[in-house]
Amino acid sequence: MSFTGKMGTTVFTVLLSVVFLAISPAIVAEDFSYDGRKKCSGCHKSQYKSWRQTGHAKALESLEAGAKAEAKEKAGLDPDQDYTADEKCVACHVTGYGQEGGYEIADPSKFLVGVGCESCHGPGKKYRRLHRKAADKYKKKGKTMPRQALVDKGEEFEFIDRCNACHLNYQGSSWAGAKEPYTPFTPEVDAKYTFDFDKYVRNEKAMHQHFKLEGVFTGPPLPSFHQEFQDAAKPLGGE
Ligand code: HEC
Ligand code: HEC
Ligand code: HEC
Ligand code: HEC
Repeated sequence: MSFTGKMGTTVFTVLLSVVFLAISPAIVAEDFSYDGRKKCSGCHKSQYKSWRQTGHAKALESLEAGAKAEAKEKAGLDPDQDYTADEKCVACHVTGYGQEGGYEIADPSKFLVGVGCESCHGPGKKYRRLHRKAADKYKKKGKTMPRQALVDKGEEFEFIDRCNACHLNYQGSSWAGAKEPYTPFTPEVDAKYTFDFDKYVRNEKAMHQHFKLEGVFTGPPLPSFHQEFQDAAKPLGGE
């Protein structure tokens, strides 16, 4: 029997996954590369400005010594300890930890600090180029592009599994993908940490505000709340 061809590839893929899983909790190895929010914020200034005010943007600060002392004590953590370089913590408080192009403890990029654009919208190196291309075509010829083309380049439109990987990653949670390191903030510590997607996705302190889309991208997939959010959206620059 030879170890080339399909078999060899499978063995290699399995080995690669094991390496990735070991360093990258819950979020399974992804095929696409992270790029950092600077690449998004130039074109999406309104969402960026709004996001900066959210708890997600400030998530790494919560790991500093002295921050959120009461919450830490309640969860059995040491409030005087600095957890900002602790691999048991940073994975869920930064963007793309352990993934290609993502946050590294040894070489932290300020554009990957906090739960950034790509934590929810997916690793952006490939699809952001399509955003530019589509914008050009739309401006020059009025042509639209199907959202499915973005999905094929790694963009996320369902969201819920991405939220789950951080919010429902603890032992005994309803999410099947849970594995170490777990979040210390579980419903057992306080009922207020119970993750309810439909409620949380509408939380204005944690989520950026929404702005009207022109309609450059069309068709499925779209989350169930897309129309609701667009109906209530502000005009661009109107934050
Ligand atoms: C070169 C400019 C540019 C860059 C860079 C860019 N985008 Fe976009 N993006 C656009 C344009 C233009 C649209 C279409 C907006 C519209 O329809 O009004 C868009 C649409 C979107 C949408 C809405 C898609 C839909 O459902 O219709 C999201 C979400 C988004 N971008 C996120 C991102 C993220 C995250 C990044 C960084 C990884 C990024 N964009 C980078 C220009 C850009
Ligand atoms: C990379 C991990 C990660 C992802 C992905 C993520 N979150 Fe979070 N979320 C956090 C962290 C960490 C905090 C706490 C921020 C802080 O205060 O330090 C948080 C806080 C929140 C809060 C505030 C909770 C409160 O008690 O006020 C809401 C609401 C929320 N997230 C909703 C969502 C939703 C909805 C999604 C998916 C669309 C999502 N999050 C995706 C890590 C994540
Ligand atoms: C599996 C992902 C994950 C890991 C690992 C993780 N966190 Fe978090 N953390 C979260 C999420 C999600 C929230 C938001 C929970 C909510 O408010 O519903 C959060 C919230 C927090 C908060 C704010 C709590 C509050 O009530 O304001 C602090 C402080 C915090 N985490 C510290 C830590 C520390 C320290 C570690 C390591 C010992 C850690 N986290 C590991 C996901 C994680
Ligand atoms: C915690 C998750 C989360 C983070 C972080 C996040 N977004 Fe979003 N974003 C969403 C959700 C949910 C929607 C609504 C999608 C829909 O209505 O189809 C959205 C919608 C958008 C849209 C479409 C228009 C709108 O305003 O609804 C753009 C553009 C966008 N986000 C850009 C960004 C950029 C740029 C960043 C980083 C600066 C970012 N997002 C960070 C969850 C997130």
